[in-house]
Amino acid sequence: MDARLSFFADHLAERRSAPAAEPAPEPGKPMVKLTGFTRTFGTNTIIADLDLEIAEGEFVALLGRSGSGKTTLLRTLAGLDDPAGQQVQVPSSRAVVFQDARLLPWKKVWRNVALGLRGLTGRVRSKAEQALREVGLGHRLDAWPLTLSGGEAQRVALARALVREPELLLLDEPFSALDALTRLKMHDLTLALWKAHRPAVLMVTHDVDEAIALADRILVLDHGRIVTQERITAARGERADVARGLRLRLLGVLGGDAGQASVIQFPQSLEAFA
Ligand SMILES: Nc1ncnc2c1ncn2[C@@H]1O[C@H](COP(=O)(O)OP(=O)(O)OP(=O)(O)O)[C@@H](O)[C@H]1O
Ligand SMILES: [Mg+2]
Repeated sequence: MDARLSFFADHLAERRSAPAAEPAPEPGKPMVKLTGFTRTFGTNTIIADLDLEIAEGEFVALLGRSGSGKTTLLRTLAGLDDPAGQQVQVPSSRAVVFQDARLLPWKKVWRNVALGLRGLTGRVRSKAEQALREVGLGHRLDAWPLTLSGGEAQRVALARALVREPELLLLDEPFSALDALTRLKMHDLTLALWKAHRPAVLMVTHDVDEAIALADRILVLDHGRIVTQERITAARGERADVARGLRLRLLGVLGGDAGQASVIQFPQSLEAFA
C-alpha cells in the first residue's frame, strides 16, 4: 500500500478505536440564544424567524447549501454584522476562525497570535507561545506567516482564537481548503482543544462526515430556517454505526444523492467547452 494511504488507514483505524472516554455533555446554560431572528438584505430575507440556542460547552455543526445564510448567521454571532433591534444573546468573549487563516504577513507568527492582547510584551509573548505550543507550533514563534503551510496557518488561526479563551468559538469552514489527511489531523486537534478549553462551538461546514465526527448536534439551514436537527449521543470515535444512517438523512435534506455524491459527470468531448 502507498505510504500515504497506509498512514491514512492507520489514522482512521486509530480514530475508530479511540476510547469512548468523553463525558456525556451536561445541559449547560445557553451561551447563544436567538429568538425569532431575521436578517434581510434589501428585499431578500436571508434568515427568517430563526430560534437557536447553543449550550455552554456544546459543539454544534451547521450544514446548508451555498447561500443558505450560514456565514450571515455566524457573522451575527461574532458581532461582525449589526442586527439592529434584534435579540441576540452571545457571550462577550468570542473568537472566529475563517476558511483562510487571515494572518497579517508583516507580523511574525507569535505577534499574529498576540494581536489585540494587552500587557507587557514578555507576558503577551509567553501567552502566545503557550497557545502555539498547544497547536504544535511552539517552534514557529518567530516565523513569517508566508513561510507556513496551509494547515500550519490554520493552526495559528486556531491558536489566535484560543489565546483569548473564548466562551464561544465560531468556525466558518475552517478546514475546507486543506487536504484530506491534514483535515483529519485538524479534527483531532480541534477536539483536543475543545476538550481542554470547553468553549461552545458553532462550526459551519459543507462536509457531512466532518459534522458527524465532531459535533454534539448538527443543524441544517435552508432558506434561512433550521430544517433539520440531529443530536449525536455516541462518543466521538465510536460513531461508525450511526454515521451511515445519519449521513443518508443529512444528504437527503441537503438535496444530495448519497450514492452519487462524489461522482462528477464529464462531457463526452472537450468540444463541449469550446
Ligand atoms: N452584505 C450583504 N449584502 C447583500 N447580500 C448579502 C450580504 N451578505 C450576504 N448576502 C447574501 O445572503 C445570502 C447568504 O449568504 P451567506 O454568505 O450567509 O451564505 P452561506 O450559507 O454562508 O454560503 P456558502 O456556503 O457559499 O458560504 C447570499 O445570497 C448572499 O449573497
Ligand atoms: Mg459561507
